[in-house]
Amino acid sequence: MDITVFLGAPGSGKGTQAKLLVESLKFLHLSTGDVLRNAIAANSPLGREAKSFMDRGELVPDRTMIGLLVDTLHQLPSVNGVVLDGFPRTQPQAEALDTEPSAKVSKAVYFEVPQRDLIARLTGRRICKNCGESFHEVLLPPKIAGRCDKCSGELIQRPDDSDAVVQRRLEIFFEQNDKLVEHYERTNRLIRLDALGSVDVIHQTLSRLLQS
Ligand code: AP5
Repeated sequence: MDITVFLGAPGSGKGTQAKLLVESLKFLHLSTGDVLRNAIAANSPLGREAKSFMDRGELVPDRTMIGLLVDTLHQLPSVNGVVLDGFPRTQPQAEALDTEPSAKVSKAVYFEVPQRDLIARLTGRRICKNCGESFHEVLLPPKIAGRCDKCSGELIQRPDDSDAVVQRRLEIFFEQNDKLVEHYERTNRLIRLDALGSVDVIHQTLSRLLQS
């Protein structure tokens, strides 16, 4: 299975761009954040474990995440390509992914956005309670305030998008990121993407990079 991993800070646009690639290039989008949020909604043992970490902006332990990822990969249908969004987040996760026989990471796209823009993107993000579609109060407002364009569901703030938790998520990201970037740079798989600009322009650039 050919995998492209998306690296980048919280709010750098990984989820937004992955969803567009699903439509345009028929990639499969696997977001570990979504898998964990679904587990929390189902109140499963994984969800109960993950919630305490996610609410504080901390990472879920590597052992749990690596087990979850391997199980999820084994259940995927056979597809052209997979975008892995939110994994790896640590060096041990990257190494575990490289030793997984069913997966071959051919590219790692690093979404680069200045920190001040990340905070504005995250604290203004609103997601649909029904379908999970993402909006932004200022940058990507819905047609009707507080309602999802796709299903008219109520728009809410993600619990981990409050000011205090965003600060912690960013701190953790910057602690881990250099080692991850170096891991993929050393093995000639890293693609740096300037992820500041319009969603459409970034999508076009990214599509070109992934097809070259
Ligand atoms: P996860 O759900 O993966 O969150 P994240 O990495 O923090 O990423 P986000 O979803 O916040 O941001 P994004 O880059 O997808 O940005 P988006 O496109 O939404 O993880 C959540 C938690 O789960 C973690 O904190 C951790 O606890 C746990 N977890 C998950 N994976 C784990 C792992 N492997 N190991 C351990 N723990 C794990 O965009 C953000 C906003 O900006 C939106 O409002 C959007 O509309 C707007 N926007 C997007 N692009 C643009 C643009 N070009 N211009 C203007 N606005 C834009």
